[in-house]
Amino acid sequence: MYLETIGLPNEIKHLPHSKKASRVIDRANERIEEFMLADDLILENFVTCDFHLLDQAVSWIEQNHLLTGKRFCELGSGFGVAAMLASLRGMEAIGIEIEPVLVNQANRLSGELGLSTRFYCGSFVPHDVSEIIEISKDVEHIETIESDIYQEIGLDLDDFDLFFAFPWPGEEHFFESVFSAGAAVNSLLLTYRGRNGMHLLRKTLG
Ligand SMILES: C[S@@+](CC[C@H](N)C(=O)[O-])C[C@H]1O[C@@H](n2cnc3c(N)ncnc32)[C@H](O)[C@@H]1O
Repeated sequence: MYLETIGLPNEIKHLPHSKKASRVIDRANERIEEFMLADDLILENFVTCDFHLLDQAVSWIEQNHLLTGKRFCELGSGFGVAAMLASLRGMEAIGIEIEPVLVNQANRLSGELGLSTRFYCGSFVPHDVSEIIEISKDVEHIETIESDIYQEIGLDLDDFDLFFAFPWPGEEHFFESVFSAGAAVNSLLLTYRGRNGMHLLRKTLG
């Protein structure tokens, strides 16, 4: 299997947002701020991506007809904003998050916004990733434990068409290995890379 990089142009930053998307982003940012100020629990691995850029990247993916279907999965979903924005586009979107408190927050926000986005508590790492010990080395911000969450979801990794993740710097390879091991040929992995913006990969036969 091969991961092909698809270059996202800088111009995506000028793509407009729908009113509904702006509302979801604003409400999520308010809620995240409240949560960060109020909660005594320190969640070291939780930081949020640039939701506006994310929405623009998915617009570009849609405009360029790169999707093979309508199933979206946010790997390590935090407050679940990526999955909620995908739901607004008519995608069947879910998020997988290991911290129960974040799953509750995401489900609450999704309900309040009247969205059908579903969030599941568990690890997005399936059981059949080869060389899991090797790829887990030096990964500090992702729980590399394997889980049965896909059984609960009722879908497997290879049922999704677009994945989104926000890896910490230097840990991108972990998401890429999970994607390469289990995702369907022609599906896409979008990742947020901080100052380097969004990065898009397609799984191909090589
Ligand atoms: C950098 S945050 C990104 C949150 C959200 N996707 C965003 O962009 O705003 C990464 C999230 O992944 C979660 N996480 C880490 N390892 C995980 C695992 N194996 N399965 C599910 N979630 C995981 C963390 O708890 C954290 O909330």
